[in-house]
Amino acid sequence: RPHLSLHALDGLTMEEVPLARIAAAVGTPTWIYSAGALRRRYARLRDALAGAGLDAGIHFAVKANTSLAVLRVLAEAGAGADVVSEGELRIARAAGIPASRIVFSGVGKTGRELRLALDEDIHQINAESAEELAMLSALAASLGRTARVALRVNPDVDARTHAKITTGLSENKFGVAYDEAVALYARMAAMPGIRPVGIAMHIGSQITAGMAAYRAAYARMAELVRELRARGLPVERLDGGGGLGIPYRDEPAPLPEALAGAIRATLGPLGLPVMIEPGRWIAGPAGVLLASVVIEKRGEARRFAICDAGMNDLVRPAMYEAWHGIVPVGAAARAAPLSPADVVGPVCETGDTFARGRALPPLAPGDLLAFLDAGAYGAVMSSTYNARPLAAEVLVDGDRFAVVRERQGFEALLAGQRVPDWLATGPA
Ligand code: LLP
Repeated sequence: RPHLSLHALDGLTMEEVPLARIAAAVGTPTWIYSAGALRRRYARLRDALAGAGLDAGIHFAVKANTSLAVLRVLAEAGAGADVVSEGELRIARAAGIPASRIVFSGVGKTGRELRLALDEDIHQINAESAEELAMLSALAASLGRTARVALRVNPDVDARTHAKITTGLSENKFGVAYDEAVALYARMAAMPGIRPVGIAMHIGSQITAGMAAYRAAYARMAELVRELRARGLPVERLDGGGGLGIPYRDEPAPLPEALAGAIRATLGPLGLPVMIEPGRWIAGPAGVLLASVVIEKRGEARRFAICDAGMNDLVRPAMYEAWHGIVPVGAAARAAPLSPADVVGPVCETGDTFARGRALPPLAPGDLLAFLDAGAYGAVMSSTYNARPLAAEVLVDGDRFAVVRERQGFEALLAGQRVPDWLATGPA
C-alpha cells in the first residue's frame, strides 16, 4: 500500500494528505480513496496483460465501487466497466465510460435493463440462461436492434473462496451448464436480434488460492471454443471475469502477472481478444474507512473500542467473517504499548464486530482508526440500518482532497417516507 505512510507528526497519511486533516474537515465515518493507487493498480494490471502478449481489455466491476469520482479516475486511465444493473450502467456512463467499453453481467437483468443496454448500444451483454436469451432476442428484434451477446458458462470449478462469493460451481445460480453451452450457442446464432460474440466465465471473488482454479476454468473455456469453431460457430472474444484476490492480512495472494500468465497459457493459443472484470484488485487496497473511537469500554473480560462506524458502513466482517487491517491514525497512539481490543460498531447486534483481540494502543474518545483495504465492497454495501446516515466519501489525489459524496443528512432518512392519510389523524 505505497499510498499509505506513517509520519512522525501527521500520523497516517494517504498520498500527501494526513488522514487526520480529512477527519477534521469532513468528520467520520468517511471512506477515503487514493486516485494515485487506483491509477497505479489499473496500470499494473494493464501492463501485466500486455507483457504476456495479450490483447486484453479491463472492465472494472463497478459493483466494487460506484463512486463517480473513482470511476472517473478509472475512465481516464482507459478502463471499461462491467455493470450488473441499470443503476451501475447509468453511473458508469455518467463517469464518462463509453458504452463501447461496457459489459452487462448478472442473472436477473430485467426487460427494462436490457432495453437500456440496447438503447445505449453497449459493447456486450453476458447472457446467463436460455430464458434470458429468449427475452433479449424478442426485445432486440422488436426494437430492430442486434445485441452483441456472450454466453456465460458455468465451468463447475471450485474457486476455493468464501462460500458466499463462489460462483462457478454447478450448484450456483450463475451461467449456463457447461454441457449445454455448445447447443445453446448454436441456437443463439439463429436467434433474431442476437449476435453471439463469445464466451464469458466468472468463477468467484477474492481468489487467493493460486491460479489452479483460473487455469481449470480457462482450459474448459478453450475447450468450448474449439468445439464451437469445429461447428463453424463464430467466436470473437472471451471474457474471463474478475476475482483476483488481495492480501487483507498476510495471506499470499496472486499477482496480476500470474493471472496474465494463466490466461496466456490457456486462452492465448486461441488468438482471441480477452477481457477481464476485476473489481476488488483495483479498488480494494486503494481505499480506507476512517472512523473515530466513541468510547473505550473495559468489559469484564475484554476491552472494546467502540467506533462511530458500524456494520451498516462496512459489512464485510459481519457478512463474510472478513479480516480488515485496523490502524490507529495518530502518530502518538502508535508509540503506545499494545494490548488486545475488540473493535466494534455502535449497532445493536453482536455481529457488529470488526475485529476481536486486535493488538491496539489505549484508545480515547476521538482517536482515529483506519480500516484498510476498504475501497472495494465497502461503501457500496453500506446501509442506513439503525437509522445511521450513509458516510461521506473523499478522493485524495497528491496533495489535494475533495468530498466526492456528501455525508447523508438526517432529512434524507425521512425523505420519501409517508404516513397514510388514515393514520394521519391517529393518537397525538
Ligand atoms: N464479474 C462478475 C460477473 C462478478 O460477479 C464479480 C463479482 C466480478 C466480476 C468482480 O469480482 P472481483 O474482481 O471484485 O472479485 N461482496 C463480496 C464480493 C462479491 C463479488 C461478486 N461478484 C465481498 O465483499 O467480498
